[in-house]
Amino acid sequence: MFDLKSIRIQGGCPLNGTVRIQGSKNAALPMMAAAVLHRGTTVLHNCPRIADVSFMEKILRHLGARTSWKGNSLSLDCSCLQNTSIPAEYACQMRCSIILLGALLGRFGRGAIAPPGGCVIGKRPVDLHLSLLEAMGVHIEDENEMLKAYTSGLKGRIICFSRQSVGATEHGIIAAVLAQGTTCLENCAKEPEIVWLAEFLKGMGASVTGAGTERICIRGTEKLHDSEFTIPPDRIVAGTYLCAAAITRGRICLENPPVSELSAFLGIYGKMGGQYDVVGGKLIADASRAYGPVTRLETEVYPGFSTDLQSPVMAVLTLARGKSHIRENIFEDRFRTAQELVRMGAHIRLNGRDAYIDGVKRLSGCQVKAQELRGGAALILAGLAAQGETCVENFHLVERGYERIQEDIAALGGRAVVEE
Ligand code: UD1
Repeated sequence: MFDLKSIRIQGGCPLNGTVRIQGSKNAALPMMAAAVLHRGTTVLHNCPRIADVSFMEKILRHLGARTSWKGNSLSLDCSCLQNTSIPAEYACQMRCSIILLGALLGRFGRGAIAPPGGCVIGKRPVDLHLSLLEAMGVHIEDENEMLKAYTSGLKGRIICFSRQSVGATEHGIIAAVLAQGTTCLENCAKEPEIVWLAEFLKGMGASVTGAGTERICIRGTEKLHDSEFTIPPDRIVAGTYLCAAAITRGRICLENPPVSELSAFLGIYGKMGGQYDVVGGKLIADASRAYGPVTRLETEVYPGFSTDLQSPVMAVLTLARGKSHIRENIFEDRFRTAQELVRMGAHIRLNGRDAYIDGVKRLSGCQVKAQELRGGAALILAGLAAQGETCVENFHLVERGYERIQEDIAALGGRAVVEE
C-alpha cells in the first residue's frame, strides 16, 4: 500500500539557514472532515501537501467530493456527496477519520466507518467519540467490523467528557454545527487546532463560542455557506526543526513561526541551552550551546508540553551533557523510538511511562526504522548529529506529517536523500 522509502542522512554538520513552516496537519484534517457538512465549496489555503492530507482527500473523494489543488490551496466541493460509508481500506490509515462520522451524521443523519487506524502509539480507543454521538441521539451498531450510525436528528445537549481529548472535542464541535438546539461541551481539550477549527466553522456560518477553554458551546444552524480559510503554521514541525538545530548545535531562522503555541516547548528549549529571539515575525534560534540535560519533562495536554514533540526532544537529550528524565502522560506506548536511538549508541532506560536518558558524547549512524510519524522525525534528527551515515527506513511514516522534510533539511545545510 505504501512506497517503501528510506531517507539516508550524512551526519555531523550543524544546521544553519532559514525555513518556512508548513501549514498545520492537525488543523487541516478536522477542517477537511468538517467540509462534509456543507453542500458547497470550501477552500483551504496553506494546506500541507502531506500523506495524511492525501488520505483524507481520498476518503472525501470516495464519499463523492470533488477536490483540486492549486499550489497549497485545496478546494473541496462537497455539493454532490452520496456515499456515507467509509470502509477499512480508508479508515484504517488514519485515526482521525472517526470524526467524519459526526460530519456525515450532521449532513445525512447516517454514516458508517470501519474502526480507525493511525500511528501505533498506544491503545487509542474511540469510546469518547461514540458516547458523545450517543448522547446527541445517535444509535450505533458494531456490525461486520463496521460502526454503523444513524439518527432521526442530532440533538444539542450538555456533554461532559470524562477526559480531555483533542479528537473528541473536535468531533463534538463538528457534530453540533447542524444539530437541533445548543450543544455545550465540557472538559474540552484546549489545543490551538480546536480554536482554529472553530474559526474555520464560524467562517462557514456556524456559531461556536468558548473554543480554547474547557467549555465550548455550539448553537445549531440550518445552513452553511462557501468559505476560504488559511491554515496556520504547524507548531509540531516548528518544534521539530528547533530540535534539529539543537541536536546539531546549529543556528536557524524560522519564517512564520507559531511562537505563542510553542511556549511550553520553548521553555524546555531554554533549559537545554537553546536561545531565541523573535524579530520581524521570524524566530531566530541559536542552539550552539543546547547541550543541557532536562531533569524532568512531562507531556501534558495543551498548554503543557506536547506529546508530539516528546520523541524529537528525546533525540536531542541523547547528546546532552548529563541525565534527563521524560514522563509520557498522554499515550501509553510512545517510546518505541528509544530502541532505535539505542541502536545508534544512545543510553536510554525505559520503565513504563518513564524514560531515563544518560547523555552520550556521540551517536553513530546505522540502519534504523521509523516506528511512527514523530518518532521517525526524531531518528532523522539523530542522523543529522550522528557520525557517518544513517538510513531511516519506513520514511512513508514521516511523510504523513512533514512536507518534503528532505528539502527543508537541505535548505538548512544538512544532507539527506530520499530513496525509493
Ligand atoms: C491528537 C493529534 C495528535 C496528538 C494528540 C494529543 C490530530 C490529528 N492528532 O490526536 O497528533 O498526539 O491529539 O495531543 O489532531 N482517548 C480515549 N478515548 C477516546 C479518545 C482518546 O481514551 O475516545 C485517549 C487516547 O488514547 C489518549 C488521550 O485520550 O491517551 C488523548 O488522545 P486525543 O487527545 O484524543 O488524541 P487524538 O485526537 O487522537
